[in-house]
Amino acid sequence: MQFAAAHAHPNIAFIKYWGNCEAEARIAANGSISMNLAGLYSRTSVEFDSALRVDELVLQDEPGKGDTLERVSAFLDIVRQLSNTNTHARVESENNFPMGAGIASSASAFAALAVAASHAAGLDLTEKQLSQLARQGSGSACRSIPSGFVEWQISECEADSAAVSIAPPEHWPLVDHIAIVNQEHKLVGSTAGHDLAHTSILQNSRVADAPRRLEICRRAILQRDFESLAEIIELDCNLMHAVMMTSNPRLLYWEPTTLAVMERVKAWRAEGFLAAYTIDAGPNVHVICEASHQALIKERLGGIFGVAQVITAHPGGGAELLSEMSPN
Ligand code: PMV
Repeated sequence: MQFAAAHAHPNIAFIKYWGNCEAEARIAANGSISMNLAGLYSRTSVEFDSALRVDELVLQDEPGKGDTLERVSAFLDIVRQLSNTNTHARVESENNFPMGAGIASSASAFAALAVAASHAAGLDLTEKQLSQLARQGSGSACRSIPSGFVEWQISECEADSAAVSIAPPEHWPLVDHIAIVNQEHKLVGSTAGHDLAHTSILQNSRVADAPRRLEICRRAILQRDFESLAEIIELDCNLMHAVMMTSNPRLLYWEPTTLAVMERVKAWRAEGFLAAYTIDAGPNVHVICEASHQALIKERLGGIFGVAQVITAHPGGGAELLSEMSPN
């Protein structure tokens, strides 16, 4: 087969990946746990065409160029090597959510690309192999291949490190209300950010304590224990942002409204509402809540000065091949 299309959801990390033990193959310094976000997606098609002299990319109906095209082309090189071909490809991709602002667009983009490109190249990869492949495009993309609540396990900086599902989406109907504070593309992307992590004196302590946080988070998910989940995801988020802020040069993704939302969420929890915050490499705040409190939390978030929009997502499935899309 020369053509294939796939879709994948972004994911929100509950226990964050920040910093690599091996940068080129994107092997994380620590394990991470996330939830796929249904309702948000990247949809990508790949067509290998022997008439092409270079790879082509269309992203959100615009021609992809520069670093973005190079990154996609380097990823296609891995697929070409696996399938023993040197044919170039035309890639078309679209997201239904803002890119580069702390909703992991690279995760869903490379997960969808891994599924579409491997099928178009005639490869029949297992879920683990797809997760390993996606990881090489963007670390967090390995977590958008399996379904639901997902853990990317790392023990010895293994080259074959991949993510596995720890619970299906229907296990716990959590809601992620994403408070959009700024839709602009972030100034320092996560690839450059990972390379700075080791410059913070806090990174080694953060990584050393990761197995403990992973254990608490995994148990909280399996037991649907919101209080424990809330405490551990907020701690883990604060630890990652502390590393970012103390790197050289420093990375500060928060804006005044980011902090305002964090403080409100803490206050709401003290009032008895089941809500907790977490923030990826951007200013937007993911407010994770129990389904029973989600409507009120959404209304309150929308009322905070500086929150432009609230995007809502639910636990989502894994990356999937699409049969209905066909080449132009
Ligand atoms: O996959 P990358 O290189 O975009 O890194 C993702 C980093 C965070 O989103 C900040 C944390 C995570 O685990 O998703």
